[in-house]
Amino acid sequence: MKNIAILGFGTVGSGVADVLAASCNKICREIHDTVNVKYILDLRDFPESKYADRVVHDFDIILNDPEIELVCETMGGTKVAFDYTLRALNAGKSVVTSNKEVVAAYGKLLCDVAREKGVRYLYEASVGGGIPIIRTMKTSLGANEIYGIDGILNGTTNYILTHMKEDGASFEEALAQAQKNGYAELNPKADVEGDDACRKICILAALAFGAMIPQSLVSCEGISSVTLDTIERAEKFGGSIKLIASARRMKGEKVDISVAPCVVAHDNPLSGVSDVFNAIMLHAQHLGDVMMYGKGAGKLPTASAVLSDIIEAIKAGKGSEQETWNIADPGMLSDNDKVSDTYCVYVPTSFAASEEKVLALFGKAEIKFSEGSGFGFIVENISRSKIRKNLHSIDVKDFSVFRYVK
Ligand SMILES: NC(=O)c1ccc[n+]([C@@H]2O[C@H](COP(=O)([O-])OP(=O)(O)OC[C@H]3O[C@@H](n4cnc5c(N)ncnc54)[C@H](OP(=O)(O)O)[C@@H]3O)[C@@H](O)[C@H]2O)c1
Repeated sequence: MKNIAILGFGTVGSGVADVLAASCNKICREIHDTVNVKYILDLRDFPESKYADRVVHDFDIILNDPEIELVCETMGGTKVAFDYTLRALNAGKSVVTSNKEVVAAYGKLLCDVAREKGVRYLYEASVGGGIPIIRTMKTSLGANEIYGIDGILNGTTNYILTHMKEDGASFEEALAQAQKNGYAELNPKADVEGDDACRKICILAALAFGAMIPQSLVSCEGISSVTLDTIERAEKFGGSIKLIASARRMKGEKVDISVAPCVVAHDNPLSGVSDVFNAIMLHAQHLGDVMMYGKGAGKLPTASAVLSDIIEAIKAGKGSEQETWNIADPGMLSDNDKVSDTYCVYVPTSFAASEEKVLALFGKAEIKFSEGSGFGFIVENISRSKIRKNLHSIDVKDFSVFRYVK
């Protein structure tokens, strides 16, 4: 019998206990053993729960119990979660987690400690909730260089954008609805300003490129300035507005990582990903493009991913090899403002900004639509800074630019 402890008995932690109970036969077939939740650490007691007798409030009980081989960290937050994780690894216990904040901030250190101690630090649930993206990248795509990743990695923002597009709700109305449905926190900043998606793309980029780029260096823009006009214009450009977290290999070992609302072309499958669903499109060396789609959050989907790590850690046993990351040299990161790409540009019509003048400046730009107050065009092989410079040169300041994800 393998004994484990769950730290944090909230949505995900209680889901882990439920999935373990519901799938004990299947899990037993996988690991040829049984898994017993010996302790649950939480701030609260759960007198109504069938696990009430396993609740403890002192982490040292778990740490000092030699029968505990694995700790499942589903508390959230950074300080205490990091401290307990580090202590558990140092004590020779594997740790699995759903906590992307800790993985993004301390992943390198924790992987190094796990490797040194011959145990595992696994974090499948930290990106894409239930979608098995991390194991796919680590194992199934092991023979492929990953050239790029485009992901819808935050269900809350995807719900808001879907609700705005389909029901004509304003950003504020859609956010309020997301909060009412339990999809958004009361303080939604980490979701709507793109920080949550940014943490996740940094984790995926670390796996794809072998180096962790600190989140603070990444160009990150959320959706709070997206309006109904933006959404309608995206349709006229031939796509949908999505919050895209992207990581791409550039020339000369550089990488570009960004989070921003983008126009995703209708024939790209990411454009059809709606509501709280997540999807990740990988551009792989031999396989080509592959997309994984599914539930990016929720009790049972996320617990399913945590359990996949528990199974892997138990199967691997002590002495197995933990992968490690490097910390990237900040010079490895491209300046996103200067990255050449395809962009959708909307310019309000004025004397300075007639379609002819703008076309003359941009050469091969394709006008996609004209409306009374302005016009939109798509332009290829150009950077945001060059677009800005061109438009400033004819005194146009009030324009919008979105990357076009083909
Ligand atoms: N929910 C999802 O769908 C989802 C999906 C993917 C990843 N995640 C990640 O998984 C983690 C957990 O999320 P969750 O939604 O399950 O959170 P949650 O429902 O708030 O559960 C966290 C639990 O941990 C307890 N806790 C917090 N600090 C503690 C401490 N110092 N000592 C002991 N217990 C403590 C909390 O107690 P109190 O309630 O008393 O504070 C709560 O019971 C987060 O990192 C989150 O980002 C969640």
